[in-house]
Amino acid sequence: MTVDLKELENQLLESVNGADNEAALEEVRIGALGKKGLISSQMKGLGKLDPEQRKQTGQALNGVKARISEALALRREVLKKQALEERLATENIDVTLPARQRDQGTIHPVSQVWEEIVQIFADLGFAVAEGPHIDTDWYNFGALNIPDEHPARQEHDTFYFHRDAEGNRKVLRTHTSTVQIRTMEKTAPPIRIIAPGRTFRCDSDQTHTPMFHQFEGLVLDKDIHLGHLKWCLLEFCKTFFEATDLKLRLRASHFPFTEPSMEVDVNCSWVDGQLKVGEGDNWMEILGSGMVHPNVIRAGGHDPDEVQGFAFGIGIDRLAMLKYGIPDLRAFFESDLRWLRHYGFSTLNVPTLAGGLS
Ligand code: DAH
Repeated sequence: MTVDLKELENQLLESVNGADNEAALEEVRIGALGKKGLISSQMKGLGKLDPEQRKQTGQALNGVKARISEALALRREVLKKQALEERLATENIDVTLPARQRDQGTIHPVSQVWEEIVQIFADLGFAVAEGPHIDTDWYNFGALNIPDEHPARQEHDTFYFHRDAEGNRKVLRTHTSTVQIRTMEKTAPPIRIIAPGRTFRCDSDQTHTPMFHQFEGLVLDKDIHLGHLKWCLLEFCKTFFEATDLKLRLRASHFPFTEPSMEVDVNCSWVDGQLKVGEGDNWMEILGSGMVHPNVIRAGGHDPDEVQGFAFGIGIDRLAMLKYGIPDLRAFFESDLRWLRHYGFSTLNVPTLAGGLS
């Protein structure tokens, strides 16, 4: 035996304890116990010894192997613990810190105002109704008492689809009034609905975008009159603008689907270039409304001698601009993160009548 086993063991133990990370320790292990390692090659040499020596050296080598294995395992534990402690010291996260605002999404002003409107009308007993964005000429115009060649068709800047084989063409709905007819067709009075949704017109400037949002209101029942309409809109406007002294002004107007028709203004003031709705002596138009035209009630499948109703249509984006002082409508749809962070609402701040709307 040329190698002093005691010395070999001491050398290996020194290497084991000197390894200062798990990778270095693994190299020591391979150098000692791997196929070509120091202990393994000593084992291979056993065959050349005579039986008595083979027995003694074999036993001694197994002892070295066992002690080195044990030392390796112990050292590995120490290094693992050390590595974990290092990570804990450098990667600690203070979970009590508040979440960073800039990593949060925000609720778009249109979604916020939409939800506020739904909350207010739900409290007044209205249900939410829906209709398709692509609709027929009939639902968008004909059934609403706007026959072919009626001038109102030109005013709507309609996006038309190609005519089909029968000559009919669909449109991107120009207003949510389409949902009036669709609701009347499938519902027996009393009807009380609002229909918020997207609408489309070929128009773009500071206060118009090709896609915008409206909501339609419809009430149909026996003995419904203008007083109901006025009360309902006043209630809505006071709650929405959070202004208890808000005043309404109803101005005679014309819509084909209502008779009589009214445009409705709210009082407002301009102070230092800032608009305040619900105070002051100026007036600002916010919606169109009226008593549902008998032809429209008939188109919806009901008898105008039996039931009457009122309807109104309001721009959601416009309401958002007025309530939250947002000057340019086009910015609503540009997805500019700085704009969204500035005008957006907290995701945790769900509008409710009890908890506050804005
Ligand atoms: N549909 C109208 C528009 O888009 C708004 C409107 C006015 C709706 C009067 C109504 C109404 O229901 O009665 O401009």
